[in-house]
Amino acid sequence: MGELFKDILKSDESLFKNDVALDFDYQPKLVPYREAQQRAIAGCIKPLFQEKNGKNAFIYGQPGVGKTVACRHILTEIEDETDEIIPLEINCWKHNTTFKIILEICDKMGFKFIENKKTEELFRLIKQALNKKSVVFVFDEVDKLEEMNFLYMILEDIYRKTVIMITNYREWLANVEERVKSRLLPEMIDFRPYTFEETKSILKLRSEYAFPPNVLSDESLEIIAKKAYEMQDIRMGLYLMKESAHIAEDKSSRKILEAHTLQAFEKIKDFTVKNIGELASDEQMILELTRANSGKKIGDLFKCYQEKGGKLVYKSFQRKIDKLEKNKFIMVEKTAGGDEGNTTIVKVNGERKLTEF
Ligand SMILES: Nc1ncnc2c1ncn2[C@@H]1O[C@H](COP(=O)(O)OP(=O)(O)O)[C@@H](O)[C@H]1O
Ligand SMILES: [Mg+2]
Repeated sequence: MGELFKDILKSDESLFKNDVALDFDYQPKLVPYREAQQRAIAGCIKPLFQEKNGKNAFIYGQPGVGKTVACRHILTEIEDETDEIIPLEINCWKHNTTFKIILEICDKMGFKFIENKKTEELFRLIKQALNKKSVVFVFDEVDKLEEMNFLYMILEDIYRKTVIMITNYREWLANVEERVKSRLLPEMIDFRPYTFEETKSILKLRSEYAFPPNVLSDESLEIIAKKAYEMQDIRMGLYLMKESAHIAEDKSSRKILEAHTLQAFEKIKDFTVKNIGELASDEQMILELTRANSGKKIGDLFKCYQEKGGKLVYKSFQRKIDKLEKNKFIMVEKTAGGDEGNTTIVKVNGERKLTEF
């Protein structure tokens, strides 16, 4: 083996005990600081244990505040507790139409020979199976649904169920079509951001799954927690821990030090634009327009943009909107149904101050 590779491989000693523990969708054993919310959700499900119809829940809060992880925790507990309640988690970003949701449920329930069957036929199969028991539906990222039919169908046709909806946008519920809204009447469950102490303690716990004792320095944990708290997103903390560890490994360090973490901070610049000044001028213009016309449909906003002399074609305009959303300058909401079919509403992001970036 050449000297070059000997050298590179020598530094290949891992600092991790279990690097999967820092993945965003890793399910930790405990979900601290969400006890009140979990109790509220459990309260909605409780009637199902007595073979009555459950209540519904609407869960909202910013990204990275534990909405998904808290619900999964509850679903796992149900699974451990009873076979009479079927937990079904559906990610509406991946499965955003009635047909896709139905296929996903068939898949989860292990139904075979579903090719060539129509939506109605498949729903009949699902309905038959589910109505023998009770069901907890979790629709994660529910605002990404393109139509409401599936919600309507289960609200009408499944007897004993709890429907849990999760979203980053509380306002989404107001735009839900009436026939669905009037049947939902959900309990509203607020996931407020974590305090600094809570953020730090969640990240510390996670670091204990990921690293052997004393690998992550106190200084590193402190500044990582600070950053995650500022961004109000635990994911930011997980990302920084992983990056810091990789940087420490590259330097053949046996500990993750503050310097490694500071270097990891450089990386997050790649995926968050720091301030308005870093946006291209057409992006700034679109941001200004959104501010002046918050809540407009994307098509109407595009018209304003053209009237102001904007030169981009619609597709490129959409891409700019996507970028502004990714960097959390604006929010994009999809509303399904209604008189005009699906619409995309563009809004200023009121939840976060730009100075936080
Ligand atoms: N209270 C908590 N305890 C443990 N891990 C948490 C907690 N809150 C959030 N996390 C972790 O932070 C990340 C983001 O949480 P998630 O539930 O996906 O956020 P949301 O669904 O609100 O966007 C996940 O990796 C999750 O495991
Ligand atoms: Mg989530």
